Amino acid sequence: MTQSLTLRRPDDWHLHLRDGAMLRAVLPETARHFARAIIMPNLVPPVVTGEQAAGYRDRILAALPEGMTFEPLMTLYLTEETDPDDVSAAAESGLVKAVKLYPAGATTNSASGVRDFDKVRGVLDRMAEIGLPLCVHGEVTDAEIDIFDREAVFIDRVLDPIRQATPGLRVVMEHITTENGVDYVKSAEKDLGATITAHHLVINRNHILVGGIRPHYYCLPVAKRESHRLALVAAATGGDARFFLGTDSAPHTDANKESACGCAGCFTATNCMSVLAEVFDREGALDRLEGFASLHGPAFYKLPANDATITLTKGEPVTYPDRIDSGEGPVTVFDPGFPLHWRVD
Ligand code: NCD
Ligand code: ZN
Repeated sequence: MTQSLTLRRPDDWHLHLRDGAMLRAVLPETARHFARAIIMPNLVPPVVTGEQAAGYRDRILAALPEGMTFEPLMTLYLTEETDPDDVSAAAESGLVKAVKLYPAGATTNSASGVRDFDKVRGVLDRMAEIGLPLCVHGEVTDAEIDIFDREAVFIDRVLDPIRQATPGLRVVMEHITTENGVDYVKSAEKDLGATITAHHLVINRNHILVGGIRPHYYCLPVAKRESHRLALVAAATGGDARFFLGTDSAPHTDANKESACGCAGCFTATNCMSVLAEVFDREGALDRLEGFASLHGPAFYKLPANDATITLTKGEPVTYPDRIDSGEGPVTVFDPGFPLHWRVD
């Protein structure tokens, strides 16, 4: 008996598309299944102003192959110099849907991020006033904090104080990786949501380190121990509208991943929906996949859900390419380590 599942077309609430040849290579991988995505601004140099975001949006649309539809939802990279008036103008014109906070040095291309949170106070207050969400990379960067503790420490030392000091600020904790993140989101009465990636529902830190080092499982925030993965699975499949899909699909060439100092990022755009269907199926939660991938995100961002649908069909394992060619070199597609029985028709 074939089993099939039709969902509103999903969106990706956290995506790295890069620029140039890489953008042209990875954009169709996302646009094939997803209608919209929140586009991360961590280019080199970063997308800081409304004008830069408009230029980047135009380059994304120009890179979209004929016949595909896709709506990039642009973000601004928050710096200590960000001008509140530029942010509100970009939001009011409909161009920009969120501002992204990277603690300086937290991850790929985050050197221009925030060091002194007092310097962004005016922007955060303005965002609270106009209802523009802040997307947060939730890791402290202090050298003495263990990398596996950086998310939990960030919640206590940075995120909670920011939220207390800025009533009404709407925050998305991006790509949460810990039970602490899940609990913090659940503890908030309002104005807080979290994205969860497909890969953090699948891998724990053993996948990165046991039996040899696996650079393609290295991403930031780094995968934590199994109990945290289980908390993420419970949150994603539990039907709570505060949790929604943000793939954090982050392409880097194999040469840059398989190196003595490899880049952080898992590239999941290609097979994400099949991976998610497998995870939800195993949990007996297929009826909640649509909420996680297609409904909770738009609700948080106050956008309509998509009218179009996609259908997934269960059958013999489906195969995806091991890597795609980016024009800058091959990019390895995330390997979940188990067969994928759900195909996107
Ligand atoms: C992202 C990237 O490569 O831009 N890497 C990652 O490991 N997720 C940056 C980020 O979101 O942290
Ligand atoms: Zn990211």
